[in-house]
Amino acid sequence: MIRRTKIIDALQRTDYGTDITVMGWVRSKRASKGIFFIALNDGSTIKNVQIVGDDAKFDPAMLKLITTGACLSVEGKLVESPAAGQASEIQAVGIEVLGTCDADYPMQKKGQSFEYMRQHAHMRLRTNTFGAVMRIRHNMAMAIHTYFHQHGYFYFNTPLITASDCEGAGQMFQVTTKNLYDLKKNEQGSIIYDDDFFGKQTSLTVSGQLEGELGATALGAIYTFGPTFRAENSNTPRHLAEFWMIEPEIAFMDLDDLMDLEEDFIKYCVRWALDNCGDDLEFLNKMVDKGLLERLQGVLGETFVRLPYTEGIEILQEALRSGKKKFEFPCEWGDDLASEHERYLVEEHFRKPVIMTHYPKKIKSFYMKIDEELPVYEGKEMEQTVQGTDVLFPQIGEIIGGSVREEHYDKLMNEIKERHIPMKDMWWYLDTRRFGTCPHAGFGLGFERLILFVTGMQNIRDVIPFPRTPKNAEF
Ligand code: 4AD
Ligand code: MG
Repeated sequence: MIRRTKIIDALQRTDYGTDITVMGWVRSKRASKGIFFIALNDGSTIKNVQIVGDDAKFDPAMLKLITTGACLSVEGKLVESPAAGQASEIQAVGIEVLGTCDADYPMQKKGQSFEYMRQHAHMRLRTNTFGAVMRIRHNMAMAIHTYFHQHGYFYFNTPLITASDCEGAGQMFQVTTKNLYDLKKNEQGSIIYDDDFFGKQTSLTVSGQLEGELGATALGAIYTFGPTFRAENSNTPRHLAEFWMIEPEIAFMDLDDLMDLEEDFIKYCVRWALDNCGDDLEFLNKMVDKGLLERLQGVLGETFVRLPYTEGIEILQEALRSGKKKFEFPCEWGDDLASEHERYLVEEHFRKPVIMTHYPKKIKSFYMKIDEELPVYEGKEMEQTVQGTDVLFPQIGEIIGGSVREEHYDKLMNEIKERHIPMKDMWWYLDTRRFGTCPHAGFGLGFERLILFVTGMQNIRDVIPFPRTPKNAEF
């Protein structure tokens, strides 16, 4: 038996006349004048290899089993293809049906809706679109590891089970081995956790940042790349309850360095996709989003706008005043921006990615470095701002959230107290500010938001193999 050749390699070979064996799943089969044609795909590439055979040379009972979705091993001769759009095909000599496919195969019909695909998420990976998305997803993971490795960052693994709420939003999934039918409570009615697995209340992490800061203040520069969990009930095309985040954290980095890093890093990932995922991107550009390739190229050519929040509010208010734009949500100074505001700035006003900075302290997390100067808006001094950076992208909105960290113990303590963050869970984090504190900064990139941008897909549920969203954990 000849060793199996991957279809991606078979399609590149020109040693016509050689015997080869390919294995894969039938995408389609047609017959004409005693000859059959099978489009076979093994996932190594979006392209199928064409298998051609003479009906008369095969067992009719076996040929009947070759239906869409069936799994085959095909032995044959590699030949130059007379058909347009492919260099080679395989003239079948022997076919073994490794797995027949039942008639109710859910990916039988082409052109099903994405909603239908989500209901059959276990099989949608076999389609062209999801194959393309998953190969690009893999490539983006490689790009990320390569970028940081080449820039001297260490891959640092932070815990998934934690007792602290990094973002302080209280949107955590609890982890417990307690018997939920028989919960012990104290006199005040609170659940007692002393006898729980970890001896305290624990949850799935919303971010690896706090532990990442411990890594950065020892190793200089680290990055995490792992799953994070948020129990926010947001049923939007951009939120998942379980998503992957990349969080670099760097000692001795200031705001300008941070923005340079964010911009350089995203461009590197986009360039990697263009350089390594050509076939898949072309497919998506044709079938999913006609503007995709142009948008990806566009980002590489743009310098991202660096926009203080206060100036952003001025632009939004001006758009309202001039009647150019109506928004559903308010955008007064101090308001958290909604995605309609972010998209207006990025897609209509600047028409390029925007890094927004210097947000009001009260709409950002406790760890962000407080600005020395107060911002002036409409001639008045406003409240304190922080050195946060949100990178806003066309179609996506926020793709990165980052900041310079408050490195002063006293100022950080103030924030923790003001926000009533439980101290008992924070002492180890605060120790970074007591034992040789240093200026540092970092950010979090939502991996699926990056994949959304790079693939042109519209819904975040379609760029992760098995999405977790409210009321949905089927597969
Ligand atoms: O802005 P966020 O909440 O920032 C942090 O978690 C910081 N601790 C990061 C850091 O500085 N190390 O989240 C970071 C990014 C967002 O910009 C977004 O891309 C993504 O994570 N994100 C989500 N992606 C999918 N589903 C959700 N529910 C998300 N929430 C945030
Ligand atoms: Mg954010």
